[in-house]
Amino acid sequence: LAVNLQEIRECRKEYPDHVIIGSMMAPIEERVWKDLAQQIAESGVHGIELNLGCPHGMCERGMGSAIGQVPEMVEQVTRWVKDSVDIPVFTKLTPNITNILWSAEAAYKGGADAVSLINTVNSIISVDIDNMIPEPVVDGKGTHGGYCGSAVKPIALNMIAEIARTPETKNLEISGIGGITTWKDAVEFMALGSNAVQVCTAAMIYGFRVVDDLIDGMSQWMDDKGYTSVEQFT
Ligand SMILES: Cc1cc2nc3c(=O)[nH]c(=O)nc-3n(C[C@H](O)[C@H](O)[C@H](O)COP(=O)(O)O)c2cc1C
Repeated sequence: LAVNLQEIRECRKEYPDHVIIGSMMAPIEERVWKDLAQQIAESGVHGIELNLGCPHGMCERGMGSAIGQVPEMVEQVTRWVKDSVDIPVFTKLTPNITNILWSAEAAYKGGADAVSLINTVNSIISVDIDNMIPEPVVDGKGTHGGYCGSAVKPIALNMIAEIARTPETKNLEISGIGGITTWKDAVEFMALGSNAVQVCTAAMIYGFRVVDDLIDGMSQWMDDKGYTSVEQFT
């Protein structure tokens, strides 16, 4: 934590014009969420995202998607953090739930300024049938994990559209995530209600330069269509 907070302070100094959103995850204990949120806020972030969706070994420890799958906990955790900081709070949702509106509405009731979605989709990608181990195999072992990248884009688009068009949740800002690789993907996410987008897998595969391509491509498309602001097509 000390290293992370120091790095945030350094990034703030180095890139004063950039927005930094801190991401946090903790077990379901009020003091822990509040203390951590305050420390992150004091490091100078512009907003805090609550990771309630990680399925990578965290749910087994009562964190991540274990919290995100219970709407009452989503509401509670969001309220704890909202009560302890005065910067925008993004509640990040898990797609591993029957109805995304349950958790989006819970985040809204807890006071979230925005929801971020989707986190990864629980999956086992394949099985090594010679050794009978789920893949990828590391040191002779494998397990389930979170699916992401282009394959999850249709799931994300649908969940975002549901939140954006439902009266109880439509006032939430949406940070859209899930398979965004090209500027066209980003425009599609915004067309269905995202106010901003995030990229994870594409940056891991192609490097951070994909962000410049997203910006260039979207700017060109906006000029071609005569849009002067993103609000005009969100
Ligand atoms: C290796 C890996 C690590 C991740 N770690 C986190 C994390 O620490 N916190 C979080 O909120 N999401 C985490 N995610 C989820 C991503 O932020 C994102 O929600 C998801 O991968 C879907 O977007 P994408 O298709 O652009 O990757 C991780 C995803 C991957 C693949």
